This record gives sequence, C-alpha cells and structure tokens, in this order.
Amino acid sequence: MRFDQPATTNPIDQGKVVGWPTPRIDGKLKTTGTAPYAYEHHDVSPRPAVGFVVGAGIAKGRVAGMDLKAARAAPGVIAIVTAQNAGKLAKGSKNTARLLGGPEVEHYHQALAVVVAETFEQARAAAALVDIRYEAAPGRFDLAAQKPGAPMAKSDGMGGKGETRHGDFEAAFAKAPVQLDATYTTPDQGHAMMEPHATIAWWEGRKLTVWTSNQMIGWAVGDLARTLGIAKEDVHVKSPYIGGGFGGKLFLRADVLLAALGARAAKRPVKIALQRPLIFNNTTHRPATIQRIRLGAGRDGRITSVAHESWSGDLPGGGPETAVNQTRLLYAGEHRYTAMRLATLDLPEGNAMRAPGEASGMMALEVAMDEMAEKLGLDPVEFRIRNDTQVDPEKPLRPFSQRRFVECLKQGAERFGWNKRSAKPAQVRDGRWLVGLGMAAAFRNNIAMKSKARVRLDGEGRVVVETDMTDIGTGSYTIIAQTAAEVMGVALERVLVRLGDSEFPVSCGSGGQWGGNNSCAGVYAACMKLRAMVAEKGGFGGDATFANGEVRGGGKTAPLESFSGLVAEDGIEYGDLDKRYQQSTFGGHFVEVAVDAFTGEVRVRRMLAVCSAGRILNPISARSQVIGAMTMGVGAALMEELHVDTRRGFFVNHDLAGYEVPSHADIPHQEVVFLDEVDPISSPMKAKGVGELGICGVAAAVANAIYNATGVRVRDYPITLDKLL
Ligand code: MOS
Repeated sequence: MRFDQPATTNPIDQGKVVGWPTPRIDGKLKTTGTAPYAYEHHDVSPRPAVGFVVGAGIAKGRVAGMDLKAARAAPGVIAIVTAQNAGKLAKGSKNTARLLGGPEVEHYHQALAVVVAETFEQARAAAALVDIRYEAAPGRFDLAAQKPGAPMAKSDGMGGKGETRHGDFEAAFAKAPVQLDATYTTPDQGHAMMEPHATIAWWEGRKLTVWTSNQMIGWAVGDLARTLGIAKEDVHVKSPYIGGGFGGKLFLRADVLLAALGARAAKRPVKIALQRPLIFNNTTHRPATIQRIRLGAGRDGRITSVAHESWSGDLPGGGPETAVNQTRLLYAGEHRYTAMRLATLDLPEGNAMRAPGEASGMMALEVAMDEMAEKLGLDPVEFRIRNDTQVDPEKPLRPFSQRRFVECLKQGAERFGWNKRSAKPAQVRDGRWLVGLGMAAAFRNNIAMKSKARVRLDGEGRVVVETDMTDIGTGSYTIIAQTAAEVMGVALERVLVRLGDSEFPVSCGSGGQWGGNNSCAGVYAACMKLRAMVAEKGGFGGDATFANGEVRGGGKTAPLESFSGLVAEDGIEYGDLDKRYQQSTFGGHFVEVAVDAFTGEVRVRRMLAVCSAGRILNPISARSQVIGAMTMGVGAALMEELHVDTRRGFFVNHDLAGYEVPSHADIPHQEVVFLDEVDPISSPMKAKGVGELGICGVAAAVANAIYNATGVRVRDYPITLDKLL
C-alpha cells in the first residue's frame, strides 16, 4: 500500500479497539518470567556452551602478542576465537569499529577474544588466563581539547547537512537589542538497559541461527551476513523479546558475532551475554556535546536571530551527535545558523541513544530559551508561544503536518499551576527546601519508514499477524493486535501476534520513535489486503463490513473463520508526504523541584508532560513510554554521566553501581496528558511517534526549575549538588 495522500476515513477511525487503554497482551509472560529472552532460550540442543568476551585493556594501539596456552589448558575450555583464527571478517555497514578487534585496537574493551567453555564459570576463569601484550599508542580522549579545529560534520545522518545558514545571522545578532550567548555541555551517557546484549547462536550446515536481543531484525540479518561473508538467506535472526534497547541494540554487536564465531569453532551452540562491566566501553554510548547557543530578540520578545553550534566526537568514520536538529525547526526567526562539528576521539563508538540529537540538543536550547525569557522580562511559556511557527522556519513553504505546540504549553501551564511560579528566583521556601518551577518544550521528529506484515486466518478462528517488528518493552505486541482486531472486526483475544523473526516480512523495526506508527501501518495494509481477498472470495462486494467476527455485504453474512487459510502480505510505503510536510511531535514539560538549601540535594517533586503526537494507539503503553522517558530525562538532568579517563581513554564508571540512573525513590508523581488529535498526513494510522518525545526537554525543565528554586544557573550536566553550592 502506497501512502501518498492524506488519510481519509478508514477502519481505524472506528476506534472500537485502537485508542483504548489496553493492558499488554504479553504482560503475563513478562511478569511471570516466562517470556523467553535471548539468554533464556533453553530448548536448544545440544546444550549451548558458554562464551566469555575478553575486552582490550588499552584504548588505542596494537596487540603485540597473545598467549592462549594457559587459557586453552584450563578446565572445560572448548575453543578460543581471536582475530587470528576467526577467518576473514568484514565490518558491519552500521558499525564504526570492528566487533572483533586485533591486532589493531580501536577502543577500550573492544573485543579481542572469546573463550568458549562448558560453563560460564569455566569460560570466565579461562578468560582471565588469556595473556595479552599491548603496544599502546597515544589517543585523543578529551572533547574539550579536540574542540578547536574540529571539522564540520558532513551530514546530520538524516539527509540534512552538517551546517545550515539562512539570512544573515551575524548581522542580525549584532544589532539585536537583547542577546544571549551561552555554552552548555552534556556528558557521555550509557543506555544501561536491563537486559544485557545477549545471543545464543548455532549452525546447521551453512545456516546460522541466532536468538538475540536486537531492535532491527532486517539490519541484523544484513550485517551478520556481510560480516561473516555468508548469504543473507543463510542467516536466521530471532528476537521476540527484548529487555530494553534505547538505541544500544539498533546494530549488530559483539555478542552476536562472537556467539556465531564461537559456535562455529566449538561445533556446538554457544551463548554469550556481554558481562555488564564490559558493556559500557564495548558497545555504543550517547556522545558528549559542547553546545554554543546565541539568541537575538527584539524588545517585543520576537527572536530575530538564532545560532546553535554543537561539537561532539567519535572514532574515525563515525558521525556527530545531531544536537542542532530541533533548532532548525522549533522556533521562528529570520536569521539562522546551525553547525555540527565532529572531532576525532578514540573513545568507544558513539551512536544513537533514545532521541539522539534532540534529547541532547533540547538540554541546551531549552535552558537558553529560559535564560532569554528572563533577559526579556517575559514568562518562559509566553516567550515560546510568541515564537511559535506553523511552517518550517528554514523552508517557509513547507508547513508542519500538524503542530499544536502552543496548546500543549497553555494546557500544561494551566494544569500545573504555572501562575503560582515566582518570576524572581529563590523566593519560595519550604523548611530547609528551596522550591522552584521550571518548564521546557518537548520536540522530536516523526519518521516515515516502510514496514511489511503478513496476516493469515488460521484454522482455529484466529487472525495471525507476523512481522519482524520488535517489542523492546514498548508494547508493539499490543498495538499491533489492536490494529489487526480493529481492521478485521474481531475481538483482541482472537489475534495472535508473532514478532521479531527474520522469517517474517521485514518491518520498520524499533528505533527513533518510528516503530509504533509505521509497524501498525504495515499491519493495517496487510489486513486491508486480507479484507479484499475475503470480500472477493465470499462475493460480499466492495463495501463489505467486518465486525463481531463476521463479514457482511451483498446481502450475505458469513463468519470470518470460514475463510481460514487465506493469507495476505503487504506493507506500507510512503511517497513524498513527509517531504511536503514537516512531521514532528510536540509537547510541554513542567517540573517542580526542591533543593536542599544546605546540601544542594535536588528532589523532583512533580512532573507533567502534555504531548501532541497524533492518534494515541494505546493510552496505557503510550503513557508508559512517556513516563519512562521522563524518568530518563531526570537521570540526564541530575545523575547520568560516563566519566572519561582522558589519559587512558575509557569510561571509568562502567557498571550499574557507578553509572547512576534514577530509582523509584527519585521519581515523584508523573502526569501525562495527550492532546486528542489525529494526524492524517502521518499514515493511515494517523499516529506519530511518542516514545522519544517524552525525554526531549525534560532535563532542561529540571535545570530551569533548579534555577527558579535557587538562582543558580548550571550549564553543565548533570546538575550534581557540588555545582549548586
Ligand atoms: Mo532509538 S535511540 O533510535 O532506539
């Protein structure tokens, strides 16, 4: 199905199943511990051997020698795979560094060997006996030191440029009556998902099967085939349950490749879970940024000039953290400049983490907006409303498909009691606590991606949906079941959803908050095709209706299950609607904090998000996405930071004891409101992404609330108590 005109009325609009708060259909499996995650897939035969990964002990240089004698002789050891004996390996198209390093070392904890043994304990013990001699080379590990002279990034990774210029920023800024020029920093962050990267791999002849934890099945198949030099048809990837990804499982990682290589060497299935202390330096992370923002405005509070420059670093061949993306779209202003500069850093590979680009960029932009509002003597909500735009400010002939940003801000202010905020900071006390309110915009783009599905009527009266879409904890199983139930006119319980298997049609996968809208649109397309097949076969005519498990039309009625055996495969493809209209999601974040006047400890007291994201397919799972994202935003504001050892080039706090994320006790009551809307330009679902919108802006809202409470403006995240005293 090609979608190139705005959607008209369709079966989704019935809203009998879609749009209702529906508990997860896979909830029981997960809460009873019976959903088979990759490492827990126990019915593989023969029993899998266990791999333990050895990571590089230097950040850059060479392996001068590797002595495996003691490790090979250790009890239970079956095989040891290194670059020396692994055979020829290519690099995955989406990997910057090689997943099995050596002799060259590209980053700290890059995998150099995998030890395969009968048990985990034996593999771990033998791995400690692998004796590696290194020739270390000097590396570049400090973003601030590499910032001068960092070249312009070639692209924004989304088809846009590294640098954009409209009007004459310098001239307009120079004569702006009110100016702000401020620099903000955000640290490296880790995904810290609950389930580690894990895989069980086995070979049957030349066919490789991996049961893994991956967000993008299609990409995993392609890159596994490419890396191993085998045919895609010989690769089978299964990933039906995923315990969190946040972008860290978008691409092929070392666990998959090394399990495959280990299984080949051991001639037996092999399972590997990357050990937690290895994950932070072995896999990807959200890169640190330095961001300079300049805003010029008239005394009327209208922005005349805006410049946002961001610096980040990555390994050679990597890309920038696209922190200026939202600044190209969020506020009006005639004279504009954005630039992303990319330094070379020999730290572990930087890549996508939940809302890459906007999550980091909004941390800076939305504090700058707060600072500018204060300079103008304007309320921060009013300042944002005054600079709303209904068109892409860089391409004024291109409207937003829908943009109810102002409504989000107004509703948020009203519900949160924003009028009680003191414009002057450090005015409100509650015992030893200084209390403040802060807000920020939320903004994240909506991405159109093609997505396929297969729908079949089985012999037991069920509608079976198969697509390689993944559920990374987001609720894909449930919204896909709702979509199929709605279109086929059956109860939710009559739909069986099967996901995360490369034998199913290729979906959009999970990433960039594109999963929900696009995968359901693909299922919608397949269901519409199945309806046409049923109507034709039963002679119900072109306007057959599907409801209550029955088909009606042409004066006839029949139960849907009388058509068992019919199968339809189709998908959604997009024309240029997403080029003619800018598709984005919007919101407002409101936060109340209390800061201990003596210790500087920050407690978040209340949070509210008002979101505008098209049709909300399931208010329970959508809310769950947003509160999770708000929680992650609090982490970004107050605690999350990978500390870089700038001499040795690694992240020091590489486990969950040292890398702090919010716990339940850190998170207060969270309220989420979705505007009641549909966006007919996004897809036949009229939905947009929502999973990443929730994090964008949260950290800035917390920072702004801290400023309102204390009068201390912190421009370097995380806002730990030492920065407030
Ligand atoms: Mo997301 S960071 O694209 O999984």
